[in-house]
Amino acid sequence: MSKQFIKAAGTTAALVSLVFAGILISSRGMQAFEDDDNDSGQSKIQKGFQVAPVPLNLAGKNRALAGLGSYIVNAVSECNGCHSAGPQTEFVRGFNPYFGQPKKLNPATYLGGGRDFGPFPGPTSAVHIITRNLTPDKTGRAIGGASFSEFVEIMRHGTDFDHLHPTCSATVTTNCLPPPFRGDLLQIMPWPAYQDMTDHDLRAIYEYLSSIPCIAGPPSPSPLHHDCT
Ligand code: HEC
Repeated sequence: MSKQFIKAAGTTAALVSLVFAGILISSRGMQAFEDDDNDSGQSKIQKGFQVAPVPLNLAGKNRALAGLGSYIVNAVSECNGCHSAGPQTEFVRGFNPYFGQPKKLNPATYLGGGRDFGPFPGPTSAVHIITRNLTPDKTGRAIGGASFSEFVEIMRHGTDFDHLHPTCSATVTTNCLPPPFRGDLLQIMPWPAYQDMTDHDLRAIYEYLSSIPCIAGPPSPSPLHHDCT
């Protein structure tokens, strides 16, 4: 055997073992990812409790679901960016991350709704699309007493149970949305994306929204009002 061949074979063997080791290492890396991300989602639950900006009432609640729900609401889906009263009061004064300050969400507006997206669908429309109050009421259930099945219906199909803006027709001409917009569906709210969440994730969001503090909002009959006591 030539010296050259032995050298080449040795190099190849070294390369093969390197590649093999690489495969081993990266597959163990993947394994770690999967463990971190599996259904029990332990680390997401913990992170969820760390980032919840308000005290949670967990009496009678499923703790793991509420923690995961907080993670989805606060770290992933940015519900509060739309469902607070607007950018001016979304953060505690002096704690606006967009000003380069540390972040602190304002508990007084947290998920209380009221952000006005302005005239919709165009500048001459009388209808303003305004986010709703997602906090519980005195029943202790999310979104002012919504049942879980109502919540699922909203998130999967965009159903507006409050009928705040019907579709315009020959008989309905004020405060209505012109076709092809369907007035019985929530607009701007990203339900076409949320509809693909798992049942488990929707359960988790509902559990979390049922454990945050109630915000009374403007007096009734405002659709944003909730009876907290
Ligand atoms: C891009 C802004 C935006 C984001 C993000 C958003 N929403 Fe909404 N949401 C809205 C708007 C606007 C409405 C009211 C739409 C209308 O009046 O047509 C609404 C309505 C709702 C309603 C109906 C409430 C009722 O009383 O009928 C629920 C429930 C809801 N949102 C939950 C959520 C949850 C949970 C998240 C996060 C997972 C979320 N939203 C994120 C904009 C948003």
